[in-house]
Amino acid sequence: MNKTALSPIIAGTMNWGIWDKNLTPQEMENMIQVCLENKITTFDHADIYGSYTTEADFGKALASGKIPREKMQLISKCGIQHISDQRSNKIKHYDYSKAYIIWSVENSLKNLQTDYLDVLLLHRPSPLMQADEIAAAVAKLKEEGKILDFGVSNFTASQTELLRQKTEINYNQIQFSATQYEPMLDGSFDYMQLHQIRPMSWNPLGTVFREDNGQTRRLKKLLASLVSKYHLGSDTILLSWILQHPAKVIPIAGTVNVARIQALIKAVELSLEPEDWFAIWTESMGKNVP
Ligand SMILES: NC(=O)c1ccc[n+]([C@@H]2O[C@H](COP(=O)([O-])OP(=O)(O)OC[C@H]3O[C@@H](n4cnc5c(N)ncnc54)[C@H](OP(=O)(O)O)[C@@H]3O)[C@@H](O)[C@H]2O)c1
Repeated sequence: MNKTALSPIIAGTMNWGIWDKNLTPQEMENMIQVCLENKITTFDHADIYGSYTTEADFGKALASGKIPREKMQLISKCGIQHISDQRSNKIKHYDYSKAYIIWSVENSLKNLQTDYLDVLLLHRPSPLMQADEIAAAVAKLKEEGKILDFGVSNFTASQTELLRQKTEINYNQIQFSATQYEPMLDGSFDYMQLHQIRPMSWNPLGTVFREDNGQTRRLKKLLASLVSKYHLGSDTILLSWILQHPAKVIPIAGTVNVARIQALIKAVELSLEPEDWFAIWTESMGKNVP
């Protein structure tokens, strides 16, 4: 049973810091406020974002804005040992030892200037991960109130099941969108529904605004007609396409555009007609469903 209720769309912070948008502390504070005012109360972090700097920038914005912690839910991830001047790693690798998981969470708490994470996720599966050791770390962190819920990210069903035998898994954060739809076909979502594991989808807009190819041109043409029909933006329609899947996927929106953030929640209210839902999938595949 999940302890925390997350917002139906999550704000992703990967690009808020030095990796991309380089928001000033004031801009970060404004961004948090805009999200909260628009019912986006959950923020997705990872220790590595901004090469291990974005959590601390966000924490400073929370503190300087005196934004109450109880108004939001914070997700963070651990496990990627990235090449960075913040660490002495010689090669990118993963670490899921009990000591490292606990140290990493405590470090995220310090950076985010908070006492607990609503959700801790293991960022990527490692061939060397040991389910018993991970379960022991999770048990200790829960016992100490440092994390409320636990999950994984980019895990297959069998990797998730390996851990689920030892500890409760509440979430799996995976890549899913109208252009990257394998999880609804390869058994991932079926498995998650069977075991009450909520999927979160990263890169929920897929390649639609990033690439210019046959697939994205077909989708953009269709989306233009759906924009006229539903009177909503094409990004809203793409998020709604995700939200309509029965696995109850929570999209993680990466935008830092205020007008787009203000419109996010409209995706939750929109119900695409089934033929429109299938039309998006059809144009993405470039062929009819069998
Ligand atoms: N677990 C993992 O392994 C993993 C991996 C990657 C990401 N993530 C998480 O997922 C979050 C979201 O990922 P993402 O950034 O790929 O999400 P996304 O929402 O699919 O993409 C966001 C990008 O799309 C642009 N965009 C949004 N609406 C647009 C529109 N109507 N027209 C043109 N461009 C538009 C945004 O630009 P503007 O800012 O200008 O709107 C931004 O550059 C990340 O922040 C991170 O929290 C997790």
